[in-house]
Amino acid sequence: MDNPLIVTIDGPAGVGKSTMAKQLARHLSIPYLDTGAMFRAIAWTLGAGAWEWDTAQIQARLDEMHFGLSGIGEDSVLSLNSVPIGEEIRTEEVGMWASNFATLPVVRTFLKAAQQELGTRFSLVAEGRDMGTVIFPDAPYKFFLDASVEERANRRYRQLKEMGAPADLVVLTEQIAKRDHQDRNRAVAPLVAAQSAVTIDTTTMDKTQVLAALKDGVA
Ligand code: DC
Repeated sequence: MDNPLIVTIDGPAGVGKSTMAKQLARHLSIPYLDTGAMFRAIAWTLGAGAWEWDTAQIQARLDEMHFGLSGIGEDSVLSLNSVPIGEEIRTEEVGMWASNFATLPVVRTFLKAAQQELGTRFSLVAEGRDMGTVIFPDAPYKFFLDASVEERANRRYRQLKEMGAPADLVVLTEQIAKRDHQDRNRAVAPLVAAQSAVTIDTTTMDKTQVLAALKDGVA
């Protein structure tokens, strides 16, 4: 594809990046790329504790993995080895495993290549932690979404309750704070706003307001 359009959305866990990325991608009629799902899928496939394996052993397993993308907006489907990635990766526990794998250069290098390759084939709203800083530094539109830990834990709590899943607000707050700390302080590609990113503090905003701000930003 000639000159795909890349929009990046970075930010901490639970800030609503996926929801917003899907809707912005729908507005632009392009796919959205959930890069957290790529880290989660690797974590889910290799399993708890595998982040402590030898680098060569992890590399050998990564070499067997291929990510695909199809669809537009909220209908975008990310697949691993032709199998759509499902809801099983969406627990806070798998999120923490993903965060552990995300500290490993071998995993980041592998996913960087996979993400950039998708960005040559598709226009994307790409969301994650290092989209605007490392993966797509030349993207014309970059956003950084933020919100307080308490508000993010509340949002996650409400989401789990709506799904009928068990949820404990105190535990969720601790888990999100722990993951933030690890994502912001790792040596490779830590979570930080790109210099040219528009930062939106969503703590007191509803989804409609955030989406309106994003649409304005790409208009
Ligand atoms: O966005 P998420 O909660 O699904 O991401 C899961 C973990 O993956 C997150 O805690 C850190 C890691 N991650 C990353 O390091 N870089 C990205 N671009 C996306 C996710």
